Amino acid sequence: MTQDEMKLAVAQAAIEYIRSKLNDDSIVGVGTGSTANFFIDELAKIKHLFASAVASSDETTKRLEAHGIEVLDLNTAGQLDVYIDGADEFDPHLNLIKGGGAALTREKIVAAASREFVCIVDSSKQVDILGGFPLPIEVIPMSRSYVAREIVKLDGAPVYREGVVTDNGNEILDVHDLSIVNPKELERVKTNFLIKKLGLADSPKLDEGIQAVIETYGKSNRNKYRAVVYYLLTKHFKKESVYK
Ligand code: A5P
Repeated sequence: MTQDEMKLAVAQAAIEYIRSKLNDDSIVGVGTGSTANFFIDELAKIKHLFASAVASSDETTKRLEAHGIEVLDLNTAGQLDVYIDGADEFDPHLNLIKGGGAALTREKIVAAASREFVCIVDSSKQVDILGGFPLPIEVIPMSRSYVAREIVKLDGAPVYREGVVTDNGNEILDVHDLSIVNPKELERVKTNFLIKKLGLADSPKLDEGIQAVIETYGKSNRNKYRAVVYYLLTKHFKKESVYK
């Protein structure tokens, strides 16, 4: 199976998973990236089963609209039934790295506004410890060098993703050389940094100063997320539900 075939397979699995939950009023949150694109193309085939979508990026908005799917602003949509997106890495505890496509802030916001997050990843994304994929951080442009110096103190090696401006008008630092054995602790460090140094609360909606260091969808988030990760191992399709 090629990687594209695996991406299509997990996209189709997600369609099967959400299909029975959809009704005429359903609003589907849609992520960004090549796996999400496969999902969008499959979603278009069942567009008669739901009302509209909310997109995590301008790129996704364009693809959804090209299929004739109505895209709502999140402020108009309110709470979403489900959010489907890919990831760059996942560990055995289903912690994720996201942001390879620079859409991480909006992805986190749309995920937070959804009742359920369905992550679709192929086996190439599976790692024992997060960090092989450089950790993307969205930064407000004026804070870039300052945030980079703070990251160096955490033993990370931040690299400015040149030429990339996010949909929010911000920039991306990709942090190399991190071995993220404790994602939740890194999230805590980020939260302290936001609150104490930048004066921001750790709310996804305010969290653009230094965003989405790590997404944790482990069991401790059970009140907030029902995370379902679909992934393909070499021979067998595996669906892993965190708590269900
Ligand atoms: C976009 O910013 C990312 O979070 C993507 O969801 C992630 O990079 C996965 O992308 P692919 O499906 O293209 O690997």
